[in-house]
Parts: sequence; structure tokens; C-alpha cells
Amino acid sequence: METTLVLIKPGGVNRNLIGEITRRVEARGLKVVGLKLINAPRETVEEHYAEHRERPFFNDVVTYLTSGPIVAMAVQGTNAVKAIRAMMGATNPLDATPGTVRGDFALTIDDNLTHSSSDPDAAARELGLWFPEGTVA
Ligand code: CDP
Ligand code: MG
Repeated sequence: METTLVLIKPGGVNRNLIGEITRRVEARGLKVVGLKLINAPRETVEEHYAEHRERPFFNDVVTYLTSGPIVAMAVQGTNAVKAIRAMMGATNPLDATPGTVRGDFALTIDDNLTHSSSDPDAAARELGLWFPEGTVA
């Protein structure tokens, strides 16, 4: 059993995709064990994307994530980390397979709608950052 983090980025919230994305997670058989709609503090987003601090897109992605409300969701299930990554699709929506969230609803890398943890270590770190109060399971 694993728990992973999903963020629905401001573009996804703006486009009323909270329900659609959550529906897909639940339909897959995964459990939502933490859920909140928040205006993320810039420091939290900078910490979240710390591995990308030196990358040219760092400021843009941090600005994007703080441009409006986001959903933070903790998702639990067997192989949840890999299952969720696959459901969200490739980072660049043009490479994302149809049937994935990015492949169905996104067109550009700077507005690719969701974040999901890349591996179990990243998931643990990110869940601690976004759910310091803990999750329900
Ligand atoms: O989100 P994911 O783990 O698939 O990709 P990442 O390589 O960890 O990059 C984090 C986020 O930075 C992406 O989801 C994009 O929102 C953004 N990004 C970007 O705007 N331009 C790039 N060339 C690479 C990433
Ligand atoms: Mg990543």
C-alpha cells in the first residue's frame, strides 16, 4: 500500500476539472485520504519544487502554482505512486497518451493541470509538506 500526492494546478481548478480528475482517481479504485482547496504559499511551492530550483522554468512554475487556488489530494492504494503517474500522463501534454488527464485535457507543458509524486520517497516528502497535519489513513 502506498500514498501519493496529487495537486490539481490552478489551470485545472479554473477549468472546473476538480470533479473529473477526482472521479478518475476514485474510479481506478484508489482512495482519497486527504483533500483541500488552498491558495498555496509561495514558500511551500518553492519547497515542493526544490529539485528544480536551478532550472529555467522554476520561477514560472512557482508563479503558476501560486496564481490561483489549487487542490492538494493524498491518494492511497496498491502501487498508488506509479498508477497515478500513469493516469496523469507525460509532463509535456503533447507526449501524453490519450486517456490520461494531460492527454485528454492539456496542450502545453506550462499548463499541464496536475502534479503527481514521481516515486515513494518524493511522495513521503511531498505529503509531509502539503499535509503536515497528516491524512486520514
Ligand atoms: O510534473 P512532472 O513531474 O511530470 O514534471 P517535472 O519535470 O517534475 O516538472 C515539474 C513541472 O514544471 C511540470 O509539471 C511543468 O508544470 C513545469 N515544467 C515546465 O513548465 N517546463 C519544462 N520544460 C519542464 C517542467
Ligand atoms: Mg516532477
